[in-house]
Amino acid sequence: MNALIIGNGGREHALAWKISQSPLVNKIYVAPGNAGTELDSIIENINITDIDLLIEFAINKNIDLTIVGPEVPLSKGIVNKFIENDLYIFGPTFQAAQLESSKDFSKKFMKKHGIPTADYATFTDAKLAHNYIEQKGSPIVIKADGLAAGKGVVVAMTDEEAHNAINLMLSDNQFGDAGARIVIEEFLQGEEASFIVICDGETVLPLASSQDHKRLFDNDMGPNTGGMGAYSPAPIVTPEIHKKIMSEVILPTIAGMKKDGIKFTGFLYAGLMIDKRNKIKTLEFNCRMGDPETQPILFRLKSDLFKILYDASMSKLEGHNIKWENNSAITIVMAAKNYPNQPRINDEIIGLHSTNQDTYVFHAGTTLINSKILTSGGRVLGITAKGKTLEEAKNKAYQLTNNIYFDGAQYRNDIGKKAFK
Ligand code: AMP
Ligand code: GLY
Repeated sequence: MNALIIGNGGREHALAWKISQSPLVNKIYVAPGNAGTELDSIIENINITDIDLLIEFAINKNIDLTIVGPEVPLSKGIVNKFIENDLYIFGPTFQAAQLESSKDFSKKFMKKHGIPTADYATFTDAKLAHNYIEQKGSPIVIKADGLAAGKGVVVAMTDEEAHNAINLMLSDNQFGDAGARIVIEEFLQGEEASFIVICDGETVLPLASSQDHKRLFDNDMGPNTGGMGAYSPAPIVTPEIHKKIMSEVILPTIAGMKKDGIKFTGFLYAGLMIDKRNKIKTLEFNCRMGDPETQPILFRLKSDLFKILYDASMSKLEGHNIKWENNSAITIVMAAKNYPNQPRINDEIIGLHSTNQDTYVFHAGTTLINSKILTSGGRVLGITAKGKTLEEAKNKAYQLTNNIYFDGAQYRNDIGKKAFK
């Protein structure tokens, strides 16, 4: 069978890498892909991003299943359009993807269906938003309503930061339409975990847990990024917490969407805050896999991902189970100079050869030009390793990271540290 993967990041390289192991799959196309997918012999990059042209391509190449990596095409209704053309695709429709594409939609939905989340209010008027800050005080969290590539959230520790964030979003339009409406929410404390499931509208198949590292610098300092590293499993998600997440967050979300007349098919990602008393609150929903969480999660997956997603796209997930290696995996993100603000591109990457069975370098912002691999985006590589323990995985990943070089590379030295507490 033929598969088409939409996207060009580390997540999509990991999806293509995993799907290439399926005995059912002959050919994988990635649109548009990166240098990592280009270098793989059974994967072919295609330089198409327009949805109508992707449909034409899927029809011409007899694509059996399309898998959508990132949120933007989902929010543009790529799934609705493929389905209208009788093509199988795994991902949520435009309507279902609003859980991610509008924070206001998702907060209203959670309140309506009793899904635990921080208290909030929504504003389009800057004056009213400033008044709300005067009333509530800091710390407080300001979020752009729309998609902002992980950068639309300001955790304001002072009133001044909160007022500045409101000005940036509502008055200066720094996030364009995405920030023309904002959600202001209660500041939550605890430990974060990412919990991702596969859903076919009815049946839910949870993936292994993981933990992301959103801040740019060690010890969770610096600006929020798309994610600087991740590991799986996350020890904070004990079997008891796993059960609670399923019963308090995941299952009510799928049921609530159904009640509201929206079938949820796709990956559902709940970003969670778990406090000292094991109370769970939902920070956000994503309607796709996380990046970089996908990399360590899929590095531990034993089951045939293609078969699972193919069946899920036909609402036949029931009866599937999912098998994991009994180990830990970790991904260290190497990011470009000046990421996340204005990442520099075109730096040559060297030292990308020595991987073995327990290590792999997933490419993200890379491009192949005249046989050289150059940086082409903010997050450049995801250095991934597995080991019997997280400590072992971490040591292998950092060893490999230290052998890879490009000018201005930034990475955190403390990925996984929280798990060793
Ligand atoms: P989000 O994109 O909504 O997940 O937010 C990005 C990051 O901001 C999260 O991973 C948290 O680290 C932080 N964050 C979001 N909402 C809150 C909140 N209500 N309280 C504390 N931190 C938050
Ligand atoms: N790593 C967080 C995300 O994918 O949204």
